[in-house]
Amino acid sequence: MLVKGPASPLLCNKITNDTDVETVKVKTKVFPDGERYVKLEGDIEGKRCTVVQTTYPNEHLLELFMIQNALTENGASSIKVVVPYYSYGRQDKIFEKGEAVSAKAFAKRIGVEADEFYSVDLHSEKIVDFFDIPAKNLSAMTRLAEHSMEEKGPDILIAPDEGAKDIVKKAAVSVGLEWDYLEKTRIDANTVEIKPKSIDVKGKSVVILDDIIATGGTMTEAARQLKESGAEEVHAGCTHGLFAGDAKEKLGAVCDSVFCTDTIEQEKSEVSVAPLLTDLVD
Ligand code: R5P
Repeated sequence: MLVKGPASPLLCNKITNDTDVETVKVKTKVFPDGERYVKLEGDIEGKRCTVVQTTYPNEHLLELFMIQNALTENGASSIKVVVPYYSYGRQDKIFEKGEAVSAKAFAKRIGVEADEFYSVDLHSEKIVDFFDIPAKNLSAMTRLAEHSMEEKGPDILIAPDEGAKDIVKKAAVSVGLEWDYLEKTRIDANTVEIKPKSIDVKGKSVVILDDIIATGGTMTEAARQLKESGAEEVHAGCTHGLFAGDAKEKLGAVCDSVFCTDTIEQEKSEVSVAPLLTDLVD
């Protein structure tokens, strides 16, 4: 049975369109004091259950823990947890002494009431090792590259920094496009130059791809640099569109278009990850 997490209703519908799996809705409410309530609206006793629930923003993380508990308490025979966007993935190590490793803390908690875990474009591959249950990281990058080809007609795919170069390379290779990444070079104490490592973008149409857009700072700066280097068109795409604060306005001022997947459902979700997840509920 597919348990339709309240954070991912449209994605769950898309997944069920392609399968004949039974579904269970989840009722949620918020008590006057702010505490939350979760109830499965269907009988899952003895059933193999897959819950699809993104964990952003925070209330959806809490809901996931409660849904998992409802599945355990009401007798599901197995629990597969699918988290399209796994929040807190960027805190995957101690950067400064005294910090929590949040990505590990939540992985441990999820593993207490689950048999398997799946996610899409985890911030780092090592997060799968934080789980005490089998865990797998799927990638939406090929789908983003295909969408770019169909809708934006780019000459090149670009990673906004070295950290994203491997995922962008994979995406570009899958559609047969050229790729590059933006390299930061320190010229002197006060000057940093950011430009494509090896390709001249002058007069070209470029799609920048990353795993996450949060404040939009990374993408906006990358797009600005590419336009300054003479790029004709710059489109920004990512798997997880958090778009915190005024990110959309900042991006809109410099990018020709901005798009993301439906791991976090919103108006810019032009690409669905449903085809990646359909097999998980069969
Ligand atoms: C960083 O490691 C990530 O891959 C993204 O580049 C980053 O999270 C984007 O954040 P922001 O939109 O706030 O610059």
